[in-house]
Amino acid sequence: MPKKESSILIAGGGSTYTPALVVMLLESLDKLPLRKLKLYDNDEERQKTVAEACKIIIDERAPGVEFSYTTDPEEAFTDVDIVMAQLRVGKYALREQDEKIPFKHGVVGQETCGPGGIAYGLRSLGPIIELVDYMEKYSPDAWMLNYSNPAAIVAEGTRRFRPNSRIINICDMPVCLEDIMARVIGLKDRKDFETSYFGLNHFGWWTKIVDHEGMDLMPKISDHVKRQGYTENTQKGQHKEESWLETMRAAKELHEIEPEFLPNTYLKYYLMADSTVEHANKEYTRADEIIDGREKDVFSECRRITENGTAKDTSFKSNEHASFITDLACALTFNTKERMILITENRGAIANFAYDAMVELPCIVGKDGYEPISMGDIPIFEKGLMEQQIASEKLAVDAWEQGSYLKLWQSLAMNKTVPSIAVAKDILDDLILANKEFWPELK
Ligand code: NAD
Ligand code: LMR
Repeated sequence: MPKKESSILIAGGGSTYTPALVVMLLESLDKLPLRKLKLYDNDEERQKTVAEACKIIIDERAPGVEFSYTTDPEEAFTDVDIVMAQLRVGKYALREQDEKIPFKHGVVGQETCGPGGIAYGLRSLGPIIELVDYMEKYSPDAWMLNYSNPAAIVAEGTRRFRPNSRIINICDMPVCLEDIMARVIGLKDRKDFETSYFGLNHFGWWTKIVDHEGMDLMPKISDHVKRQGYTENTQKGQHKEESWLETMRAAKELHEIEPEFLPNTYLKYYLMADSTVEHANKEYTRADEIIDGREKDVFSECRRITENGTAKDTSFKSNEHASFITDLACALTFNTKERMILITENRGAIANFAYDAMVELPCIVGKDGYEPISMGDIPIFEKGLMEQQIASEKLAVDAWEQGSYLKLWQSLAMNKTVPSIAVAKDILDDLILANKEFWPELK
């Protein structure tokens, strides 16, 4: 029997991640056949630049796939099986503010962690819920794979406000780190082993890594992390810039305080906040690095393809991020029961943690969605940190729902990156001014 052919919509079509994702989807047609591929964005100009290049790539590599792009929600969301959502609400201009405002007050300025992540969360909740509603209206049987950040706050919002929706919130960081772990012990990639992991998004730990014969690989990986964090002798994968190398090195210290487990790199912003602030270039942050790097590169490559009318020599390549999303789409479409780390409501999977917390855990994915794997009880060190962080995230969503200044102040003050209620208030007042166009009015 011929395999089912899917119709995929990429929402946030103008994203810097779109070309790599399109390339990956075309390389995976034997696993995940496509009949249609559409892009949707609310920025017509930005999307057009990316879409015109994608059109050429698709014409050359898979002319049978029907391709279109639009800013009209009805056209975009009609006749779709899978939505891949990658919005950046406020784009890089606001990411820059998320990073620079906290730094001005001596606090970690980061895309998804600390006050910057909370600010980005309040911008993203409404537009992501809008996407879910479009999907439910025009293609109610579709699945949305959402990796728009900040994934933790977005996931809490969709859990709370659209509890029955077919949305799966995901993050590529565990996958990228697992690929590094595999390479540093001489394996090909993450598919050579199976892992156990628990935590919140951008806030978790690996507890077990075994190969397919059941051999424990943790000691070997741990030896490497003790020496050089997650850095490789020749850095491969998506995270090669100096700011990322510093983050990869920091895993060495994060591992010292919890030698039994292996850390997610984002824990650096919470557990090493002081040294992060001390070493950061506060005038030229990660947003600047991307504006001058990835964003420029992707858009100039798109323009070059369109001008030349061919993509035969393109530098666009698939990456770990794109392969993870494609694997997830395959698992849902063909019921592969693949084990994947996803963001899920806890519901007892971590026995001694809040039932209604959005946690990150290995899950088994099939055509009806996913089921988290039970992790039992977690130790007090991780549990304490997670309780503080989940409270900060839940308060941020309360603040958005209620338009509450007080709840948002509490959310910032609760965050481990923020030293006092006075600093929390100063940062909040600056963030309110920067986010006027996107946040609900706070009273
Ligand atoms: P980008 O700014 O290049 O692209 C985002 C696109 O979203 C833009 O074209 C923008 O116009 C569009 N957009 C913004 N608001 C919209 C709305 N309301 N409706 C429709 N479109 C809208 O950003 P990027 O760097 O490519 O990142 C895209 C997203 O993917 C970000 O949220 C980023 O954090 C996330 N991301 C997630 C992971 C992960 O694994 N979780 C990894 C990488 C990137
Ligand atoms: C991005 O790629 O923009 C982020 O999600 C992660 C990073 O590289 O800072």
